[in-house]
Amino acid sequence: MRRKLVVGNWKMHGSLAENAALLGALRPALADLGGAGSAVCVPFPYLAQVQQALSGSPVAWGAQTLSEYAKGAYTGEVSGAMLKDFGCTYVIVGHSERRSLFAESDAQVALKFEAAQKAGLIPILCVGESLAEREGGTTEHVVARQLDAVIQQVGIKAFAHAVVAYEPVWAIGTGKTATPAQAQAVHAFIRERVASLDEGVAESLIIQYGGSVKAANANELFAQPDIDGGLIGGASLVVEEFLRICEAAQG
Ligand code: 13P
Repeated sequence: MRRKLVVGNWKMHGSLAENAALLGALRPALADLGGAGSAVCVPFPYLAQVQQALSGSPVAWGAQTLSEYAKGAYTGEVSGAMLKDFGCTYVIVGHSERRSLFAESDAQVALKFEAAQKAGLIPILCVGESLAEREGGTTEHVVARQLDAVIQQVGIKAFAHAVVAYEPVWAIGTGKTATPAQAQAVHAFIRERVASLDEGVAESLIIQYGGSVKAANANELFAQPDIDGGLIGGASLVVEEFLRICEAAQG
């Protein structure tokens, strides 16, 4: 049985005061949950705060992107080793907002994935189609292209130390969730594609769903056989919502 993993992606939200309140409530409540894994991916400046607040708890933390470079003259960039210095377990790579708003290509995402693993981080690789792509019937083609770019760069075995998140772009922050059946179909497609190269890796690969997950729809989504938890945006900023989503992942 794969364990489930729920990760909150705070995106560009928070302040020292807001985070302190959120973390103060999450830490004891999530410690009581046990079982399923949970983590928060926060803006870079708050990594030290989160490290201090969550050290010694079962809740992990991480960042939302990283540089594909290890070090050097890359003003404004943050390396995997720097994230590791702040105790990060995870880093999100290839989020659709990075791909569409900051022009990250499939090839660049693959390099970031590789850089994350080289630094000892677990990349959470986001894949997903836009509304136009879904309506044009190219969902599988797009997801396969995004996945294959990374497989080509790092090899399939690298996915034994990675998480994949299926995040249909049309469902992110829109309140429109993929139906459990729609999400399951793409998750099964991803797992089959990985299985065609390595069955063992596919069987243990955590594939999260992301896109308007809330307490109200988490149970149904997480009950699908290939949905192993969620990558949560808006609802991860609301204590009660995030806790109930983590509870849903407990099964
Ligand atoms: P929402 O949960 O706000 O739709 O965001 C999903 C997401 O992009 C998580 O990475």
